[in-house]
Amino acid sequence: MGDDLQKATTQDKINNFTAKAQALLLMGGEKQINKQHESGKLTARERLDHLFDKGSFQEVQLFVQHRSILFGMDKKEIPADGVITGFGKVNGRIVFAAAQDFTSSGGSLGEMHSKKIWKIMDMAIAAQKPFIALNDSGGARIQEGVPSLDGYGGIFYRNTISSGYIPQITAIMGPTAGGAVYSPALTDWVFMVKNTSYMYITGPEVIKAVIGEEVTHDQLGGAVAHASKSGVCHVVTENDTDCLDKIKVLLSYLPDSCNSELPVIPTTDTADRSCPELNKVIPDKAARAYDMKKIIKAVADNNDIFELHESWAQNITVALIRLMGRPVGVIANNPMFFAGSLNVNASDKASRFIRFCDAFNIPLLTFADVPGYMPGTEQEWSGIIRHGAKLLHAYAEATVPKITVVTRKDYGGAYIGMCSKQLGADYVMAWPTAEIAVMGAEGACNIIYRSEINSAADPAAKRAELIAGYEEKFNNPYFAASMGIIEEIIHPHDTRKRIIALLEALQNKKETRLTKKHNNIPL
Ligand code: HXC
Repeated sequence: MGDDLQKATTQDKINNFTAKAQALLLMGGEKQINKQHESGKLTARERLDHLFDKGSFQEVQLFVQHRSILFGMDKKEIPADGVITGFGKVNGRIVFAAAQDFTSSGGSLGEMHSKKIWKIMDMAIAAQKPFIALNDSGGARIQEGVPSLDGYGGIFYRNTISSGYIPQITAIMGPTAGGAVYSPALTDWVFMVKNTSYMYITGPEVIKAVIGEEVTHDQLGGAVAHASKSGVCHVVTENDTDCLDKIKVLLSYLPDSCNSELPVIPTTDTADRSCPELNKVIPDKAARAYDMKKIIKAVADNNDIFELHESWAQNITVALIRLMGRPVGVIANNPMFFAGSLNVNASDKASRFIRFCDAFNIPLLTFADVPGYMPGTEQEWSGIIRHGAKLLHAYAEATVPKITVVTRKDYGGAYIGMCSKQLGADYVMAWPTAEIAVMGAEGACNIIYRSEINSAADPAAKRAELIAGYEEKFNNPYFAASMGIIEEIIHPHDTRKRIIALLEALQNKKETRLTKKHNNIPL
């Protein structure tokens, strides 16, 4: 062999290299690829082909091999060690990625597999570009033992130190079990594919053995479960290509890093577009619900919104929109669910979104219609005090431009929580339908006029009269405006143009905070 190589011509060496590379590019081989396709999944290479602009993907460390010897591993070849890493362009912008390939030893993560991921993450951090992980793996490579765990540790460490520095997105496109779930959870956004992906700490067999509960993989950790019950998943997708397409849409809103300009996409929409439909959104009856998403859509460029966490904590909506092509993060109470009140999950959902936007310099637009924090033992014992505090902390710590529009109720502590002036809102506007008060008129009158109502000849008539008086005094935007606690009362149809003008004016906003190591957000 040595002699042959010595005798080999340059062309032979090049041909030899080509053959070796091509063999590796086949990853687990035809049989495994067919199995992957039969289970409704693309291979890692096919996924990367779909994600990256044609021909732009540059693979890194294709020739890496594992070096374990136990359990027959000395005889086992794992092409690319089960993970493809590299960088390329997505819609013309550089992105780094690691895609685990289930066809190659189940995409299991051993020492060298993890070192490839470390390398590509280190490159993404150094280059200040987004990192995307496409996960499809049986987890820690069982034959390798603790080096696999060490490998995960190195990934979690990099996920953490680059948090808020570069955007990190994970797509779950197959199994993710055990501690392996924590890299996705440490990244900014988790996408899952319906029916073919699942995540859990302990699987159905262990659950059955330990607590006797019977549950399927999908019920326990499928896309729908994590999108609607646990909140682990931010975007549910129909299949692999849908997942990759949606990641591209999300990327289009994000800067390369916290030090980069926001991506601006030219729009055909106009800055002075009136939204007459907004004059009719608020129902005449105060107790009636309406869909806050109609307002967000009406305001957004071309009515386009990218909603995250759509099926979880639906009493608050978080979404990315563009205004005159510039990305904006929207946080909005949604009266369609729990009357738009704030609970544990809504507080968590909004707080994390606010912190993401602030980290990447995306301005915050808040629409408030909130009757208060949700009452009850379930919420109190789940820690609504602790979780609600996150929302206050997240808004107050954010230094990006912050604009608030009060559409209807804005009561009590929840008023403060929905980006009120003293949490640092740069500008608060209210519609004429706004009710900014300590509480609703009925509750307020029952407390402050109890003896007056009870001693009246006609208590019901007295109560109605007192409620009307309270509403006139406090349940409107005029008292807050007279105190300068809100800046302005606007026509609903002017909402888009007022926000655009404000964001343009605030574009160079610079705000600093006290110098320290870091905040201690209530977790
Ligand atoms: C080594 C693995 C592997 C693993 C799969 N394979 N998982 N090899 N370590 N963890 C290999 C299989 O041996 C097989 O190799 C190939 O991948 C395909 O696997 P199949 O079992 O044939 O596929 P399928 O029937 O689709 O089943 C998929 C699966 C199953 C449900 C994921 O493979 C499975 O249960 N794997 C083990 C899952 C697990 O317990 N992982 C450890 C979790 S704990 P060949 O050579 O036959 O093709 C963990 C701790 C992380 O990850 C902690 C981080 C802090």
